[in-house]
Amino acid sequence: MAAKAKPVKSKSRVKSAPAKKAPAREKKLKIAIAGFGTVGRSVVKLLLQEANDCFELTHIFNRGVSRKKVDWVPASVRWTDSVNEVISSDIDVFVELAGGVKPAGDWIRKALRAGKSVVTANKQLIAESGPELVDLARESGRRLEYGASVAGGIPAIIGIQEGLAGDRLYKIAGVLNGTCNYILTKMESTGASFESALKEAQDLGFAEADPTADVEGYDARAKLVILTQAGLRARVKSEQIPCWPISAVQAVDFAYARELGCAIRQISLARKETDDGLSVRAFVRPALVPASSLVAHVEGSKNLVMATGQYAGQMVFSGFGAGGDPTAVAVISDLYSIARSGSKPPSNVPEVETPKDVSGEFTAPYYLRFVVKDRPGIIAAVATVLSRYGIGIDAVLQRPGYPHSALPFIITLETCRSAQLGCALQEINRLDFHVEPVLCMPILLD
Ligand SMILES: NC(=O)c1ccc[n+]([C@@H]2O[C@H](COP(=O)([O-])OP(=O)(O)OC[C@H]3O[C@@H](n4cnc5c(N)ncnc54)[C@H](OP(=O)(O)O)[C@@H]3O)[C@@H](O)[C@H]2O)c1
Repeated sequence: MAAKAKPVKSKSRVKSAPAKKAPAREKKLKIAIAGFGTVGRSVVKLLLQEANDCFELTHIFNRGVSRKKVDWVPASVRWTDSVNEVISSDIDVFVELAGGVKPAGDWIRKALRAGKSVVTANKQLIAESGPELVDLARESGRRLEYGASVAGGIPAIIGIQEGLAGDRLYKIAGVLNGTCNYILTKMESTGASFESALKEAQDLGFAEADPTADVEGYDARAKLVILTQAGLRARVKSEQIPCWPISAVQAVDFAYARELGCAIRQISLARKETDDGLSVRAFVRPALVPASSLVAHVEGSKNLVMATGQYAGQMVFSGFGAGGDPTAVAVISDLYSIARSGSKPPSNVPEVETPKDVSGEFTAPYYLRFVVKDRPGIIAAVATVLSRYGIGIDAVLQRPGYPHSALPFIITLETCRSAQLGCALQEINRLDFHVEPVLCMPILLD
């Protein structure tokens, strides 16, 4: 027979405390969504499913709104195609998810002047008018948050502005366009041509029907402008940053890059120099990076942002940089930031300075790929021009198996200035043996 358990006598009688309830928020922030598209729908879903403790969705604004209505949004939410109705209501936060510079910028200015805080995912607008809108938010005594405008769900802006506020950042670099990364990593892993990798990206919904903004580097450049403002506290304009398209990269370049122990990625880079006043060197271009680097391991449509500071060294943020749900996470995080810290703009934020000089000038070793009608003396002719500009050759590689009528080979160069190399390439491209212009990519070793 089992021993009967004796009741344990407690020395003092303690009444069991009722389970602690989270204190109810005094007032939920009233939220309006402008733009019920890919990101807008995901934000509404998360607001209703995950964040309804803090927020009350009151309005959804979209043009032609009746065709947008869905039955999973509660009847208490007002659907409207009048932005004025939304802005003049008693909302606390106007969430702009329509995109484009106009009219979205006008709505945001109006909302701030009406005393509403604003959250936006709009990279074009923030790249073009970020500092002006931040100033307007400060004057209006309200918050403007744009964490979703760069790298979707990756908390790069908040990580840089808050997590790294104690450092003095001097370099921001990364893979900022998921479409280009999808295409380049597809070409790398399968040997596909640019055209077929692009077609596949379009079929899978990773690339737009018109891929110009991604492929030419304009989308990544807008994000780099925002990161440069947020991290380097430098105001640069998109048109000051040179971009090179990824469409010139061919399958053969991946084979040569592999022989050099490298991968090819679209790299966005901004570097601040303060030796003689503030200047910024920045570009968006396909580049060789060491195969062992973190950047080379960013696969498919993912993004990566690296911030390098004087004290903490290099910090890396990586993950899904686009898509409705990841981007919605960044929007909701910005809303929580407003809920936690209040709708007054933060004080003591360092000023954003306008640099005296912004250029794409960059010193690095370079990779040159030629496709030529083969004949004797080609390498000597190229070497003659390079040596006239004081540029040294590091290696020449030529893979077998290509026709003499269109023979690819590469030359890698010792470290040189891009301006010098640009002049040399103008001369080299005028030589008469080319089947296509020389492809030039920096080899980024750090
Ligand atoms: N999608 C992403 O992965 C991603 C990632 C990061 C940031 N973003 C940014 O997030 C924003 C929204 O992107 P999205 O992909 O969700 O775009 P989207 O799918 O095209 O949705 C935009 C929505 O806004 C509406 N809209 C556009 N212009 C309007 C206007 N003038 N008046 C009223 N409604 C208007 C559109 O209505 P219609 O249906 O009539 O066109 C649509 O419902 C953009 O700034 C984008 O750059 C997107």
